[in-house]
Amino acid sequence: MSDTDAAAARRTPSRVPLRLAVVGGRRGRAFGSTLAQLTDLLELTAVCDRAESVLAAWSDAFPQVKPYRDFDDLLADDEVDAVFLATPLKQHAQQAISAMRAGKHVLSEVVASYTLAEAWELVEAVEQTGRTYMLAENYCFMRPNLMVRNLAAAGAFGQLTYLEGAYLHDCRHLMHTADGDLTWRAELRTEVSSIYYPTHSLGPIAQWLRAANGAEDRLETVTGFATGSAVLPAYFSKEFGADHPGALAETWRQGDSGTAVITSTSGAVLSVRVDAVSPRPHNMTHYVAQGTNGAYESARRDGEDPLLWIAGRSPERGEPGQQAERDWDPLWAWAEEFEDPRWREHLAAAEQAGHGGGDYFVLKEFAEAVRDQRPPEIDVYDAVTWSSIIALTVDSIDRGNQPVEIPDFGGR
Ligand SMILES: NC(=O)c1ccc[n+]([C@@H]2O[C@H](COP(=O)([O-])OP(=O)(O)OC[C@H]3O[C@@H](n4cnc5c(N)ncnc54)[C@H](O)[C@@H]3O)[C@@H](O)[C@H]2O)c1
Repeated sequence: MSDTDAAAARRTPSRVPLRLAVVGGRRGRAFGSTLAQLTDLLELTAVCDRAESVLAAWSDAFPQVKPYRDFDDLLADDEVDAVFLATPLKQHAQQAISAMRAGKHVLSEVVASYTLAEAWELVEAVEQTGRTYMLAENYCFMRPNLMVRNLAAAGAFGQLTYLEGAYLHDCRHLMHTADGDLTWRAELRTEVSSIYYPTHSLGPIAQWLRAANGAEDRLETVTGFATGSAVLPAYFSKEFGADHPGALAETWRQGDSGTAVITSTSGAVLSVRVDAVSPRPHNMTHYVAQGTNGAYESARRDGEDPLLWIAGRSPERGEPGQQAERDWDPLWAWAEEFEDPRWREHLAAAEQAGHGGGDYFVLKEFAEAVRDQRPPEIDVYDAVTWSSIIALTVDSIDRGNQPVEIPDFGGR
């Protein structure tokens, strides 16, 4: 341990709240009320944002919190033990590395890394500094997703052979300011990258695969596919006129809809789809799991039940030798047996937090991992493996949709 690390460790006594700074205050604001529920674990100490207006809003809501405009100034603050990075996604890896080198623990918004080089650099920084690094992949902590993980771990699905995750969220309104300037989300779409945001879809299903099939069943290859970019030119033309750069087809290189087909070492196939522009009702939490003994399909909209069918337990009628008639169970019918203990205990608090309770459990897990000096549930190895799909699908598409190998970044 270096002197800086030792000093940082001394600043983080295990039973006092972790002193947290939020970096990138717009997404960070969603955590304000959740932080208030976790005061035994976390103390909001500082907030850092380039925009004065964002800092002013925080100061109104939390007058005791120190405002910073400059990230390096924040890192020099000895009263900050950990940072929650909620800046635009291309900044996460470098900010995480700088923060850990300055002795801070890091909770990073998705995604962890954008290029393969920074993925490796991030792993190295965690291993060298010994700081806690966790990816804030909140979808992994959603109530149905944790229940399905428990079912997978108990062997209910048998061996998992096929999985799907999709993030279908029409975010066209977030691609520009009111004046028509492109935001960072739109800038990303001017570059070739089909699956720019894979972890909400891949995180939960990769965890189910591991729970059912064992840690030796690694993600092995990925093949990328991207559609053309037909939606945004029409949208920008309608909103800002035909002379706006966004109205030109050549501005957009990401494709409207991206799909990654991943294979695992056991031969399982995982389909991950990301579409943030096509017009349709949202479904950010589409998941499917098929095993040798059962299947799962997530709900498509609020009020609809996620569905589960497990051989030998779910409804099945028919004479031997004839096609059986099978029907789904609502997932909730299995809650008594497979509800995650965290949801059992903290349902009321989690339901008040954002993203299906995921935001609550992300913060709680991170703070407890630091306090208990144990690896967090979503460590750097999962974080960079899931995030590497961005760069690897670009490579695959460049090679005419050839499969490319997913590096083994280490870890479990
Ligand atoms: N996990 C989820 O469910 C979820 C939901 C929304 C957003 N996100 C992620 O959160 C991040 C932020 O998204 P957003 O919608 O709030 O974006 P945003 O553009 O609305 O806000 C980003 C903020 O970061 C600030 N910022 C930019 N660079 C900075 C820097 N170097 N130092 C300090 N502040 C800086 C900006 O001023 C702005 O206030 C993204 O990575 C996004 O992918 C995750």
